[in-house]
Amino acid sequence: MGVRFLKMAVVYILVGICIGIYMGTTLNFALTSVHAHTNLFGWATLALCGFTYLRFPKAAGSPLAKWHFWLQGIGLPVMLISLTLMAHGYAPNWVTSLKHFGESVAGIGIFVFAVNVFTNIKAMDIHN
Ligand code: HEM
Ligand code: HEM
Repeated sequence: MGVRFLKMAVVYILVGICIGIYMGTTLNFALTSVHAHTNLFGWATLALCGFTYLRFPKAAGSPLAKWHFWLQGIGLPVMLISLTLMAHGYAPNWVTSLKHFGESVAGIGIFVFAVNVFTNIKAMDIHN
């Protein structure tokens, strides 16, 4: 599971820096929020989750890790795509609802990760 998270994270930094370069080149900063979340939620957060799973196999083997992977894998792209549409001024009700859906699903993914960390990682695992 750790490797799957790391690969998912790397896709986000590739997309994130492309958006950064696009903004730097065009001097259009409308996508700052999309860029920030792609890099920090997509790359930094998911890579940290990936390393956590690599270090703690019991947490990685839990069904909670699978739930986390899919909630994150669905929620974050939906959140970022709808945020991109809104940043371009396209914000009908269905787009804002989609954004709420994406944020909630991605947020629940992090909640599931937290439950996994608290239940399946113990201080004594550090010495294994
Ligand atoms: C080639 C790489 C990158 C380029 C060209 C780039 C470019 C930019 C630009 C043009 C902005 C908007 C600045 C503004 O609105 O004043 C920005 C904001 C931001 N970037 Fe990047 N960026 C790059 C990589 C990264 C990476 C790797 C991260 C994080 C891991 C990151 C995190 C952020 C954050 C958090 C903001 C928002 C800062 C704020 O709210 O003031 N960027 N970046
Ligand atoms: C479901 C999860 C999240 C939601 C709904 C959310 C929502 C938001 C909102 C509404 C803003 C203000 C945007 C603006 O002023 O244009 C913001 C800014 C920011 N968030 Fe998040 N956030 C989430 C997760 C995260 C995470 C996990 C990180 C970092 C690891 C993060 C880092 C930032 C940063 C650096 C900014 C300021 C950059 C900017 O100018 O957009 N966020 N977030």
